[in-house]
Amino acid sequence: PNLHRIAVIPGDGIGKEVVPEGLRVLEAAAATFDCAFHFDHFDFASCDYYQQHGEMMPGDWKALIGGHDAIFFGAVGWPETVPDHVSLWGSLIQFRREFDQYVNLRPVRLMPGVPTPLAGRVPGDIDFYVVRENTEGEYSSIGGRIFPDTEREVVIQETVMTRVGVDRVLRYAFELAQRREKKHLTSATKSNGISITMPYWDERVAAMAADYPDVCWDKYHIDILTAHFVQHPDWFDVVVASNLFGDILSDLGPACTGTIGIAPAGNINPERRFPSLFEPVHGSAPDIAGQHIANPVGQIWAAALMLDHLGEGRAAAAVVRAIEDVLARPEYRTRDLGGEASTAECGKAIADAICV
Ligand code: NAD
Ligand code: IPM
Ligand code: MN
Repeated sequence: PNLHRIAVIPGDGIGKEVVPEGLRVLEAAAATFDCAFHFDHFDFASCDYYQQHGEMMPGDWKALIGGHDAIFFGAVGWPETVPDHVSLWGSLIQFRREFDQYVNLRPVRLMPGVPTPLAGRVPGDIDFYVVRENTEGEYSSIGGRIFPDTEREVVIQETVMTRVGVDRVLRYAFELAQRREKKHLTSATKSNGISITMPYWDERVAAMAADYPDVCWDKYHIDILTAHFVQHPDWFDVVVASNLFGDILSDLGPACTGTIGIAPAGNINPERRFPSLFEPVHGSAPDIAGQHIANPVGQIWAAALMLDHLGEGRAAAAVVRAIEDVLARPEYRTRDLGGEASTAECGKAIADAICV
């Protein structure tokens, strides 16, 4: 059987509770679909590691995980002990930038039977992808503070868009839209107010669209786009956005499908020069950590995205089917979906539901 070598990094908080459920489902998928996994477990990229070592990761982290076929990641952040910008810029954001994972692919889907806060919406009404630029844009390290601690204090952080960086994520999004039935792409912009970078983004979208005449595309400013996500989620198919806008849209979209706890993310280097990283969209959830009530579905769906990336398409589809089967049954839902199941009860039910 095909052997896949995976670097496993649970991180902090509920990351440590949901990653084992993802692994449980991957083992079940491997047993059913004749592939195999070798998991290497790492304790760095966590705030515990930071407290012991004074840094989030060892100096040779790239060598330790750069040769794996993929990275299976939980969540990082424990703001009580380490400031979030320190823990995140010392781990997850390094992975995305150093491994050139320039696409953050975030599916949003209303699953059968799952209660949604949007009255009257049924599966099929909400089924789209957020394609988030993942290595530049508003997340830049260019800037600083001058005249600190005086009344003249000034704080600046630049947004960086490069032609290569914008075009490559747009191309990925157009290609994805072209493969889908609706062939519809929406661009998130704010070119009315952000007067240099966002008009540039719009220009590149229009130029790229010329290469994809069969894709029908539109654009909305991010403010009204958030309203349309709530009022007209059925308008969307592939939504491409800058780093920050994509971050916001990919919590809002899943919230419209019942909970952010089910949403997955693929941090992808499409050229496969570096390993891609698969994680849930949510964070370490310190407010519920240790209670064993976290929803493991985001992590498990991330495992399905990883299987797809590894060429195990049948196993990936089986995992998504198992998620759908189990979420349709209220007794296996976790508290964020109004149920009483524990993290492990939900995860085990999904692993048991895997079949050809
Ligand atoms: P969060 O996603 O951790 O939690 C937001 C809310 O959603 C909380 O009430 C939480 O209990 C709930 N929630 C999240 N995931 C859930 C799940 N699987 N099941 C049930 N409920 C769930 O966001 P936050 O509170 O803004 O951030 C907490 C920490 O996580 C911070 O340190 C933040 O920087 C970090 N964070 C990390 C990542 C990541 O590693 N990719 C993503 C987002 C936030
Ligand atoms: C996400 C997270 C991260 C981001 C944070 C934790 C830096 O919110 O993966 O969506 O903003 O990219
Ligand atoms: Mn986010």
